[in-house]
Amino acid sequence: MIQIQEIHKSFGRQKVIDGLSISIAKGELVAVLGSSGSGKSVLLKHVAGLLKPDRGKILLDGQDIHGLRGKTLASLRNRMGFLFQGGAMFDSMTVFENVAFPLTERTRLPGEEIRVKVMKELEAVGLSGSEEKYPSQLSGGMIKRAAMARALVRDPEIMMIDEPTTGLDPAIRLAVLKLIDESHKRLKFTGIVVTHEIPSALAIVDHVVFLKAGKVYSKTSGADFLSSSDPVIREFLGGDEGPEICPQKQGG
Ligand SMILES: Nc1ncnc2c1ncn2[C@@H]1O[C@H](COP(=O)(O)OP(=O)(O)OP(=O)(O)O)[C@@H](O)[C@H]1O
Ligand SMILES: [Mg+2]
Repeated sequence: MIQIQEIHKSFGRQKVIDGLSISIAKGELVAVLGSSGSGKSVLLKHVAGLLKPDRGKILLDGQDIHGLRGKTLASLRNRMGFLFQGGAMFDSMTVFENVAFPLTERTRLPGEEIRVKVMKELEAVGLSGSEEKYPSQLSGGMIKRAAMARALVRDPEIMMIDEPTTGLDPAIRLAVLKLIDESHKRLKFTGIVVTHEIPSALAIVDHVVFLKAGKVYSKTSGADFLSSSDPVIREFLGGDEGPEICPQKQGG
């Protein structure tokens, strides 16, 4: 399970995270919502161990991740899958090499076993036949799906997924959400998905955490979030027609 305990983070004079706590039970998938700049990606990078909180703790199965070093840290990272905002594939590697990377770099599995796992994952994300392509030869949706395959190839117990659908067209957006839902059901990972995909993404998660001013403003079910009468939440939901979603529309 993931326990985020009263974390604080500032960049220079800007306080981005201000005493934020979230507890996620084993196997639960939580959606993190909030306006642009509210610190969602920063939060995920803390859980991934890429940023260190100024104060507070993040525990994974009771272990303080920022207290770990060397092998223990590496073995914890091996249990995690990440899908960062933007997808981030290595341009000079094929889809196959990109997806195989976590296995070739971090495990000693024999080549044939890696090949089987990679091909299975590519099939699951609908990219069979594209393994020899380079990222520059793929559409935005295919890159996201390849990045998902790379995140899933080690059967992660923990998944951090940042805006998996932004910039994709509507049909692909639903396909990517379905892929997350299916892989969550299959692998039963504990995870966070940051999304602006409202309402569709709320159907595949166990809870919705809404961030405001660097804190958890509310933690509810998806249905309760959507029907909330809280003016702040209503404004956020109404605001979805506004600036936050515009880049998606242009990108689609
Ligand atoms: N490494 C960094 N150095 C300085 N400031 C940063 C850094 N990372 C994030 N920030 C700032 O922290 C704030 C929160 O950023 P973050 O990327 O978490 O927003 P977000 O909620 O993910 O927004 P979006 O929905 O647009 O992705 C922003 O004001 C950003 O400029
Ligand atoms: Mg972000």
